Amino acid sequence: MRIAMKLEVKDIVKGGKPIVCLTSYTAPMARIVDPLVDVILVGDSLGMVVYGFENTLPVTLDMMIAHGGAVARNATHAMVVVDMPYGTYESSKELALKNAQRIMKETGCAAVKPEGGQELAETVRYLVNNGVPVMGHIGLMPQSIEKMGGFKIQGRGDAGAQKVMADAKAIADAGAFSMVVEGTIEPVAKDITEAVNIPTIGIGASPACDGQILVVDDILGMYAPFTPKFVKRYVELAPIISEAVKQYADEVKARTFPTMGHCFLPK
Ligand code: KIV
Repeated sequence: MRIAMKLEVKDIVKGGKPIVCLTSYTAPMARIVDPLVDVILVGDSLGMVVYGFENTLPVTLDMMIAHGGAVARNATHAMVVVDMPYGTYESSKELALKNAQRIMKETGCAAVKPEGGQELAETVRYLVNNGVPVMGHIGLMPQSIEKMGGFKIQGRGDAGAQKVMADAKAIADAGAFSMVVEGTIEPVAKDITEAVNIPTIGIGASPACDGQILVVDDILGMYAPFTPKFVKRYVELAPIISEAVKQYADEVKARTFPTMGHCFLPK
């Protein structure tokens, strides 16, 4: 397979082909996903998917850096974006820059993604002005579940729609190169996509978004606890893996694995 040059921020443009984004958290998955997508997001969803937490709040900077580095070292085509975890950017723009630079330097990723709307615009501007490319994240923001009162779909009613639109415009004006629009009612996500001059990446948003993102374990049928409405499972890998593990266990118990062919013999 001929793999195109590594994608950069300047390649993630509005009005071109739909932008294909997917999460990955490990080196082997990054190697599989890399040639097939435009953007790999090392999302803080790894808190649930990899670490088994209930939400993303316990995820640390060190976790994001460890997984971000594993993915970035193994992506030769896709642009790699790493999430800024809860508590690492909200309190001041200076703290945000220090932590964003640490993520960039220690992982080799191309951009970071903090969550936030109007209240985060000044920080996004500061990051961008200091050379850190930012993918925004508005609408349903999982790091704000306490403030939002749970995983609530955003943009409902006039006030709800105006708030998400204002958030989107603030993040675009602040210099983000793209933004995730998560868990937002379809017409509002579509209006946002028409209103802002940077690509929108939808998840539970609209087919009209400039790109789409999902969690890789969700599309592979690997994450059992919960399947949100916006997820499409393209394969059910969990039972396939389970069957392989069962065969291995049966063979070990029956002493039919390993065979002599798996053993090192004297020369
Ligand atoms: O953490 C994550 O994986 C994300 C995407 C689902 C957008 O933020």
